[in-house]
Amino acid sequence: MTMQISVSPSHNIDGTLILPLFEGTDLVPEAHATGLHVALKAQINRVLADGDFKGKAKSTMTLVGSEGGKAMLVGLGKEDDADAHAYRKAGAAVVAARKKTHGTDLTVRFAGADVESMGAFAEGMLLRDYSYDEYKMQKEEDKEAERNVRITCDEGQEEELEALVSIYAGVASGVHLSRDLGNCPPNDMYPEAFSDMAWEWAKQYENVEVTIINYEHAIKAGMGGLVAVGMGSSRKPCMVIFEMNKELPGRCPLLVGKGITFDTGGISLKPGANMDEMKYDMGGSATVFGTMQALASTGYEGKVVAITCMAENMPAANAQRPGDVITTLSGKTIEVLNTDAEGRLVLSDGLWKAGEFDPEFIIDFATLTGACVVALGHEATGLWSNDDDFRSKIHDAGNAVDELAWPMPLLPAFEKEMTDSKIADTRNLGAGRYGGANTAAAFLKQFVPNRNYDEDGEQITWAHMDIAGTYWGAKTNTMVGNGATGIHVRTMYHLITNWNN
Ligand code: BES
Ligand code: ZN
Ligand code: ZN
Repeated sequence: MTMQISVSPSHNIDGTLILPLFEGTDLVPEAHATGLHVALKAQINRVLADGDFKGKAKSTMTLVGSEGGKAMLVGLGKEDDADAHAYRKAGAAVVAARKKTHGTDLTVRFAGADVESMGAFAEGMLLRDYSYDEYKMQKEEDKEAERNVRITCDEGQEEELEALVSIYAGVASGVHLSRDLGNCPPNDMYPEAFSDMAWEWAKQYENVEVTIINYEHAIKAGMGGLVAVGMGSSRKPCMVIFEMNKELPGRCPLLVGKGITFDTGGISLKPGANMDEMKYDMGGSATVFGTMQALASTGYEGKVVAITCMAENMPAANAQRPGDVITTLSGKTIEVLNTDAEGRLVLSDGLWKAGEFDPEFIIDFATLTGACVVALGHEATGLWSNDDDFRSKIHDAGNAVDELAWPMPLLPAFEKEMTDSKIADTRNLGAGRYGGANTAAAFLKQFVPNRNYDEDGEQITWAHMDIAGTYWGAKTNTMVGNGATGIHVRTMYHLITNWNN
């Protein structure tokens, strides 16, 4: 978070020299060796010739020169496969491997990489430069120290690379904000804490406005889903609306986030094991807040709206019960058969509210179902949409930034299963356990408004992203140490900034 990356064609080496190498390199390239202590150069050549360092993707080796100087070799994998992802992962691997003995300054030298690859390497460094130690007396030792990283480029590449690095730094600040929100313990991250943060945050940007719909207002407005989920907690629910460049004409992207700051399950109480992880149940709201930060800090000039549905799901004397029937903002009634299927209840109001902004499209993010984790593990987000082309665009945007989102089916049969209530318009639980992520998606679809709320009109283009498995616990993700991943801030940045291209 304190990493400063600069760019220059200078041959000076400040601090540790970082050398990204392809698999099979057996001699340090001349371009890499300029200004390096002769002894250290010989040491590097020895480990390369002996095969002690093979250049495998994400591998690193630190060498301390016997006559001075320090170098870290980092593997880029096979040269033929060396795309932006390989460079990004290598950059992250450097930050992950670096101990405080490496000093704070780093000089990165590529042997003939293009601007895009060098930028991706910088992006990986920025993304991995994160730790959450707000609650530790002893902060990570070098956290406060400014980390200076200099990327050595060719003459003439400077300007383009600098611009790229500055965008990546802004986007990384959005990812880090999302992680901060997700990692924050639930005694300090409750609906009003989130809305206070959003309010304070918006003050730094002239083109962003935050509106908070508090508990009383939500009751009056008829947000029966949000109210029912949140009423059992002493920390009352709210809806937070972010609007960027709202005065611009035309339709814009609209993001909706599930923001359950703690999910006990409510009266349908969850088992105790790992319940602490349910602090991440506001990951969807963190994703959309982080995306707004990424867009605002990089000076995005388009219009965007985000809606977060914040509530704490607690068992209490005044909590909702299984069997309750609630009336949502849409007017549709829901039979609540399980209070642990609460995400879909708060989202029913968020999705319906979205229609007021006449958006170009709606994407919701939610740590919605354990069933999605069963289906896709921690490797891919579940992705549903009422529009095949739109779903492909999101899938492609995820692939472009290495945040995978996998297409899942939105079938009428699942929707039918959810509307089969004897006493209400719909129910919040499927008939059985199977296909739980799909029935949840089908449930949400019922609350995606038609354009201008016209009964006979067309439904607004919408996608649902279940991040239950990908917002936390992604052990194979090089960009993340532990805890909240901050996934899909980068996907959304990519999708939104490329939307009209
Ligand atoms: N927040 C959970 C889903 C979840 C599970 C997120 C594991 C992250 C990791 C959600 O509110 C929930 O409890 N869903 C239930 C739905 C069921 C009652 C239909 C589930 O998945 O079991
Ligand atoms: Zn739940
Ligand atoms: Zn939940």
